[in-house]
Amino acid sequence: MSHAKKPSPLAALILAAGQGTRMESSIPKVLHHVGGRPMLYYILRIANALKPGAIGVVVGHEADEVRRQTMEMARSVGFNRPIQFIVQKRQLGSGNAVLESLPFLKKFKSAIVMCGDTPLLTYESIYNLTLTHDQLKGQATLLTARIPNPKGYGRIVRGALGEVQRVVEESVASPKELGINEVNSGAYMFELDALVQGLKDIGAKGPKKEHFLTDIMEVIRAKGGRIHAYASSNAEEVQGVNNRAQLSAAERILNKRMLERLMLSGVTIHDPASTHVDADVEIGQDTIVYPGTILRGKTKIGRLCRIGPFTHIEDTQIGNECEVRFSYVIQSRLLEKTSVGPFAHIRPDSNIGPRARIGNFTEVKASRIGFGSKVNHLSYIGDADIAEDVNIGAGTITCNYDGKEKHKTTIGAKAFIGSNVNLIAPVKIGRGAKVAAGSTVTEDVPDDALAIARARQVNKP
Ligand code: UD1
Ligand code: CA
Repeated sequence: MSHAKKPSPLAALILAAGQGTRMESSIPKVLHHVGGRPMLYYILRIANALKPGAIGVVVGHEADEVRRQTMEMARSVGFNRPIQFIVQKRQLGSGNAVLESLPFLKKFKSAIVMCGDTPLLTYESIYNLTLTHDQLKGQATLLTARIPNPKGYGRIVRGALGEVQRVVEESVASPKELGINEVNSGAYMFELDALVQGLKDIGAKGPKKEHFLTDIMEVIRAKGGRIHAYASSNAEEVQGVNNRAQLSAAERILNKRMLERLMLSGVTIHDPASTHVDADVEIGQDTIVYPGTILRGKTKIGRLCRIGPFTHIEDTQIGNECEVRFSYVIQSRLLEKTSVGPFAHIRPDSNIGPRARIGNFTEVKASRIGFGSKVNHLSYIGDADIAEDVNIGAGTITCNYDGKEKHKTTIGAKAFIGSNVNLIAPVKIGRGAKVAAGSTVTEDVPDDALAIARARQVNKP
């Protein structure tokens, strides 16, 4: 027997229709990246975690692209709430964005409204906002915080008893109001009927004749409703992103949070100031990250590794006890106890180790390098399948490209390739075979054979 679940009475609405004029960008603001993800992602993640009946995303500027990337994010991280898009035809302000969303919101009893440009918000605070709202039973509850420099934010005007009276936007605030340092985060919870009633009475305001959603607070109070606030003690999290300077501030804060989380879970970070780790990176206990290291995308690093200094690793899985120094590694796998660098370039689809060694000035692309094999110096290995215990001498090149197509090089276990060898692919080197230094190999080498493919030395008087 199945238990039909009651739909949640809560909707989540994310405002993401604005162009983000102050970004001076051809990319819609909410799609600019922080921590390796579009900033909208962080809000979607919170919305999904609240388990609302549905998530509405208001799109407008570059609506198709915002929609496409939203669905991609939802798929890639397995969001499980239904997502619905609301098209705001003209960006007439946040009040208008919510007004246009009423057909979507009307099915619900209450709604959480958040802005797509506040990627630092924490789930904890939004959850506390919902608890405060439910407990105090007002018509609207705001998430606020006191911040040292409130410039640009809506200010929270409170009465003599500390009750929230209204929110005043910077562009229309009096000098006295500008001195208030408690600001609006742009996240709210509303009772739907209050929202429906209130939105009708918001007029156009400010230099751009916008409908400020924040004006609804005063309207609700005028109709006898009550407004409450949940004030977060975390001044950082309410910071929004309207321009590139704020984007970089958000990046720094997210990175700091990420590094703190990693350090507290047992990762040593030598120099947080020069280390950058994207939001989805995972690192195991007792791994040490040295200065100047950038870990991006879906990188996953095991335990007891040494990463850096001055290393860039992207979308790569790294097993336990690996070492990567002064290197650039992308979309690859390093298996246990493998060492890379200094000064190596590991390109996509490489699968290296366990216990393999890639040394200085070596480039590997789309190749497997098996257990215990070594490519220690100055080599290019592309489209190769190298079995276990192979030694590749300094300066070996897999000549994989004939100008039209790529070809494969296969090297059997325990083979020994001397220095400065050209392997003209397609070519197979057998198990235990040896190739003399300086050879240019154009034909397959049988197992255990010695191939010498170079001109005999002539000493002339
Ligand atoms: C807004 C708040 C301000 C708050 C601040 C927090 C208003 C009027 N002001 O100001 O009180 O302190 O956020 O960061 O809401 N949007 C639409 N359609 C529109 C206009 C905006 O969807 O027509 C979206 C934007 O894409 C953005 C969000 O609403 O995600 C906020 O708009 P923005 O212009 O950034 O408002 P702020 O000036 O930052
Ligand atoms: Ca904003």
